[in-house]
Amino acid sequence: MKIHQFDAVIVGAGGAGLMAALYASKGGANVAVVSKLYPTRSHTGTAQGGIGAALGNKIGDDPNEDKPIYHAFDTVKGGDYLADQNAAKVLAEEAVDSVIELEHMGLPFDRTSEGRISQRRFGGHTLNFGEKLAYRACHAADRTGHMILQTLYQQCIKNNVRFFDEFHVVDVLMNQGVCVGSTAIDLATGEFHVFHAKATLFATGGWGRCWSVTSNAVSLTGDGAAVVMRRGVPMQDMEFYQFHPTGIFKLGILITEGVRGEGGVLINRHGERFMEKYAPKVKDLASRDVVSRAIYMELRNGNGIKGKDYVHLDIRPETVNRYLAEAGESKRIDRDYVEKKLPDILDFCRTYLGVDPVKEPMPIQPTAHYAMGGIPTNVDAEVVTDENWTILPGMYAAGEVACVSCHGANRLGTNSLVDLVVFGRRGGKAIANFVKTAPMTPLPANPTRQIEAEFDRLRRSNGKTKAYVIRDAMQKTMMENVGVFREEKAMQQAIDDLRELRERYVRDLVIDDRGSKFNTDILEAWELGCLLDLAEVTAISAINRKESRGAHSREDYKKRDDEHLLVHTLAYRECDEPYYSGTPDYRLNMDKKVDLSLALEDERFKPKERVY
Ligand code: FUM
Repeated sequence: MKIHQFDAVIVGAGGAGLMAALYASKGGANVAVVSKLYPTRSHTGTAQGGIGAALGNKIGDDPNEDKPIYHAFDTVKGGDYLADQNAAKVLAEEAVDSVIELEHMGLPFDRTSEGRISQRRFGGHTLNFGEKLAYRACHAADRTGHMILQTLYQQCIKNNVRFFDEFHVVDVLMNQGVCVGSTAIDLATGEFHVFHAKATLFATGGWGRCWSVTSNAVSLTGDGAAVVMRRGVPMQDMEFYQFHPTGIFKLGILITEGVRGEGGVLINRHGERFMEKYAPKVKDLASRDVVSRAIYMELRNGNGIKGKDYVHLDIRPETVNRYLAEAGESKRIDRDYVEKKLPDILDFCRTYLGVDPVKEPMPIQPTAHYAMGGIPTNVDAEVVTDENWTILPGMYAAGEVACVSCHGANRLGTNSLVDLVVFGRRGGKAIANFVKTAPMTPLPANPTRQIEAEFDRLRRSNGKTKAYVIRDAMQKTMMENVGVFREEKAMQQAIDDLRELRERYVRDLVIDDRGSKFNTDILEAWELGCLLDLAEVTAISAINRKESRGAHSREDYKKRDDEHLLVHTLAYRECDEPYYSGTPDYRLNMDKKVDLSLALEDERFKPKERVY
């Protein structure tokens, strides 16, 4: 076992992690980033369509037309009023200078002909409290996340941040009520490394791999959330998991909402633009929960293309121009425009489907995309452990793994990238201040004992079931029973299935590779344990919330219940053993109030029925 010491250790090298590392190091801290991937392979790189900021850059519009308060309103409304309104306000206000900062760092945004950052429309983003659709998504073609990642990585290198690439964090270390670091395995050698730090920030992303159809990369196994939960930190609002409406049929690969932002439309087997029925005002650009449900309704009603479980997304210039003309808009597009604005999605469809989107519509279905819930934090990315906002000293979280909660029950498109840069930056600043005066609390005695024992147990697994068999069964039950539409019996089925799978995971797993170097067999098995924990806590939080709100849509409780359930869920994993020798229970607490500060100042932020 090797021990390293830093002021701050950032776990995860996506947008939030890199932004936090950059700002902590700018503030004078000695910072390391520990990542299971090479940093520029992090999942932020797959974010396509844009980062929202109220710049008001659209040519012909009054530059002052868009305002952060409209962005905050859309965020709160999109989140079905469960968002903490102070966090939504911070998100929207700080989005503006974060984007300008990225531009100044060299991020190659697309430009308007006047040289401003180009902005496109995205679902749920409006001007003047819902009056008309906003052009708010700043983009670099459909590679916005990729560009953010490259830009921030270069800045971190320039600022002497130390990187431990392909180091897989498998534990978090606590002592005397303080987070004192983390433990990682070096993939190349299999050795355990302890990262002793005054401050540890988790920015490890989401857990879309709990479901079978997902836009998430294979690395998105929720390791950070799982290890933190195993050490007693609650998970907040885990029932709210977003399905992005447009994933490639069966594969789940994201087709950006930017397609609809550029004028693309959803079409059923009868050639109908069906979103006109479900969201008459904004149609295909309603919020994601609304569009995903509409697609499922069409499929249930037999309106899938060729009777199958998909509909079409059509960005062919002739279709788009027809609808633009009907709407009285002056914009027209042609093939070159689509090639320039959406190169990656054209490439995906041509490569994986043999479909050319400028000539044929794309077959799409909703795909598991984004966790609104996660590790509870305040707006400075400090982790909090209960309804009284008690801070866990030394521990921070930002990005998808965290729940600030600025997204509430459903996140608006583009706000994930905003979340990364805004709360990553705030976390980095908070860490820089904290480490100036905080002592280096000692490590617990024998810090790797438990996790080494867990890996020994895994290494010796000699049952009959391969990890992928358990993973497939978990993904199937989550897709069928804890997906877009939910009800009690199905969710109970998922919980029962997951408990049985946990038993098989503990008692009957088989590992083929018992070596140390680049042992991906054992690490994938370990990741599966994280996924099983997160799937279970998601299903338990979901069955417990007896209402429909945002992405949590129950057939047996169709209404939103603001009177009783305008509160966050905190789920605590209760178990004597942090790892798999014990079977956990989950204690749920719904006493954490939603912050409604904007609603106190402005009637428009009060919870009300959402109409699109
Ligand atoms: O549709 C998209 O480009 C995805 C963006 C997001 O999840 O915010």
